[in-house]
Amino acid sequence: MQEKLSIHGSWTNRWVFILAATGSAVGLGNIWKFPYITGENGGGAFVLVYLLCILLVGVPIMISEVLVGRRGRMSPINSMIETAKESGLSRRWGLVGWLGALAGFMIFSFYSVVAGWVLYYIAAMANGDFVDAGKAQVGATFENLLADPETMLIWHSVFVVLVMAVLVGGVNKGLERASRILMPALFLLLLLLLGYSFTTGHFMEGVTFLFHFSPDELSWEAVLTALGHSFFTLSLGIGAMIAYGAYMPKKASIGGTVLIIAVLDTLVALVAGMAIFPIVFANQLSAEAGPGLMFITLPVAFGQMAGGQVFGFLFFVLVGVAAWTSAISLMEPSIAWVVERFKVHRLIACTGLGLLGWGLGLLSIGSFNVLSDYTLLGMGVFDLLDFATANIMLPLGGLLVSIYVGWWMKRPALENELAIRNPFWFNAWYLAIRFIAPTAVAAIFALNLYNKLA
Ligand code: PFF
Ligand code: NA
Repeated sequence: MQEKLSIHGSWTNRWVFILAATGSAVGLGNIWKFPYITGENGGGAFVLVYLLCILLVGVPIMISEVLVGRRGRMSPINSMIETAKESGLSRRWGLVGWLGALAGFMIFSFYSVVAGWVLYYIAAMANGDFVDAGKAQVGATFENLLADPETMLIWHSVFVVLVMAVLVGGVNKGLERASRILMPALFLLLLLLLGYSFTTGHFMEGVTFLFHFSPDELSWEAVLTALGHSFFTLSLGIGAMIAYGAYMPKKASIGGTVLIIAVLDTLVALVAGMAIFPIVFANQLSAEAGPGLMFITLPVAFGQMAGGQVFGFLFFVLVGVAAWTSAISLMEPSIAWVVERFKVHRLIACTGLGLLGWGLGLLSIGSFNVLSDYTLLGMGVFDLLDFATANIMLPLGGLLVSIYVGWWMKRPALENELAIRNPFWFNAWYLAIRFIAPTAVAAIFALNLYNKLA
């Protein structure tokens, strides 16, 4: 029987899929968000809970998403519909795909604003702006950037164009080519920075901070954050992995491949932490710096160190590359859907959706300055989009996928697609996706909403 393939193309081999999916997973979540939420939540105990969430919830759900994509061979929306039809279910499961595409779109709009700051910092680092700059000066630079909609707009636009330029090329000439070049560059930069942080003489302090275990510092809030972040960091709940799975060769094993991606994403987060905290501690700065860790604390640290200008520059290039390969995967689900639905060329789909995402980003930009008075539940547009996606839409998307795959899709279809020879591993996955993942997500999801709204 001829293997059914996606009309959008297929990855040349399994390794390209790993590179592209790791490119999606490794992003601002690993290098910007993970270190600062770890700092805010006291370090070691939080990291442990985070690792458990990845293993028990994240990996099983990622396997399910890739499975749905490879079986459906279409955009997430249509892959949900195709696999639902195969199992004799309602087309309404396509709504899960819609929820994801919408979330991807929303994340894209504020993700590219932050990525815009990163581009601005690449330029500033190259320029030597932070050499010997104190905390007050870097803080003022960051505040001035946030207060200046025009500068933010320029860099946000540059980033959107970079992302769309790759997406226009399609699966092989765009996504695949970008992954083959950017991912090795990313790993190389990360190793260089790790080496640099070894030279600070504070390396063990950083490691201790990440791995010391003090359970009393663990709050419910931290558990919520860890679970939400495990979704965000693995690009789950929005259909990105369904989209990338649709282009995956049939003979590659899904379970083993997903495990590699999850391990790489986790390693990058930990290595980023090990690279960042020693640099912070070496300069008598504090780890609990919140979102400003990357944009204030780190530049101050780099500015005081020998070689800091070069390595600071390389650091922000690393972050920019990571954000780039992630942002691509945020938009691929909706672009693939538009191409399928309207039978238009990718160029048209990319231009249309790119403009929409760019436009929504303007609201995020404004929330730091001209629109700062418009808030809901105490949050401006930027925080609202972040909150609504990371804390509501992604967990909800993941919950629905786990219920769909675990309780509704026919088991023979799952067995056929996963092709796991050892029944133990299939059963372990099936147990996780039917019971552990939905229970954990539902419980934590409910608690989270209760905490936030009560
Ligand atoms: N996984 C990315 C990160 O850790 O930065 C964020 C992300 C990318 C989430 C793509 C969702 C997605 F579809
Ligand atoms: Na990530």
